[in-house]
Amino acid sequence: MSSDPKSPVVIAAGGFGLIVSDGKVVTKLHHTAKSCKDGQAEFFKARRVYESFKDVRCVTTPKPLGFSMTEKAYNGKKFMCSFTMEAVRGVKINGREMLVHAVLSQPQFDKEIGQNQNKEVGPDNPTRGWHAGEKNLLARAGVEPAKVAQRIGSAIVHMVMDAQIYPFDVEYLVGNKQSLVVLDFGMAEIIPLKDYADMDSLVQKLFEVGGGDAVGIADDIYYPSLESEYKLDFYQGMKNAAAKCKMPEKAQYLLKYVAEDLGIDIQSMKRRKL
Ligand SMILES: Nc1ncnc2c1ncn2[C@@H]1O[C@H](COP(=O)(O)OP(=O)(O)O)[C@@H](O)[C@H]1O
Ligand SMILES: [Mg+2]
Repeated sequence: MSSDPKSPVVIAAGGFGLIVSDGKVVTKLHHTAKSCKDGQAEFFKARRVYESFKDVRCVTTPKPLGFSMTEKAYNGKKFMCSFTMEAVRGVKINGREMLVHAVLSQPQFDKEIGQNQNKEVGPDNPTRGWHAGEKNLLARAGVEPAKVAQRIGSAIVHMVMDAQIYPFDVEYLVGNKQSLVVLDFGMAEIIPLKDYADMDSLVQKLFEVGGGDAVGIADDIYYPSLESEYKLDFYQGMKNAAAKCKMPEKAQYLLKYVAEDLGIDIQSMKRRKL
């Protein structure tokens, strides 16, 4: 039996280049020097997040393995640099391994996503995973949405308060043994939180609305909507993490705004004793 790694296949493509995987290691290959700068920055952000999750239960990010400026070729095309990380294993659905994205905001959302996210899945656009809404997380991926919601809340607090990363445009997936996997720090921002003025700009970023891409993460598909059945679980996840993180008082400050945004009555939460 051969133990050679499989040759890498393309799992996604973007303006910057290609993402390839041999099943064990995923490599983000960048075309240009300009995008290599972003690639290197992403490696550093991923490392910060990886460190911040070390003692967090059931929340992970693929281990960042390295960033290399050595030129590589793939299918006859040249790439200037590469960021490597561990590969995330998908969840088996109908015998096929699928990456399941844990969507909290839209209960009806249930859609396969292609290598090109903006096009329907088809012969020229192979599937790369599934966007599973609250109902389908349990039905398809066998994971309790309440747990997913808690873990997303926890992940956000540890990224923001410990890694000091504003997790803009990151992806939340269902991982091994129902853990939560956080991916893609390309657009995430480093946000030092020295004082309460910094906290205020963080809050502003979080809840920013409108203006094309410039919306806060509170508006994205992974953050519970006002109607979400699991918003209390999400908040509880944030609360538990806030008590454990490096800056608990600043985390409390953040939580007040989140509770208000989600219409959560903190007093009744205390009595409910989740
Ligand atoms: N470590 C990984 N393991 C498995 N799949 C991955 C991994 N990293 C990325 N992917 C897949 O590639 C897709 C795009 O990767 P991402 O880092 O989000 O790139 P982009 O910057 O283009 O959004 C992800 O949605 C996921 O399907
Ligand atoms: Mg992405």
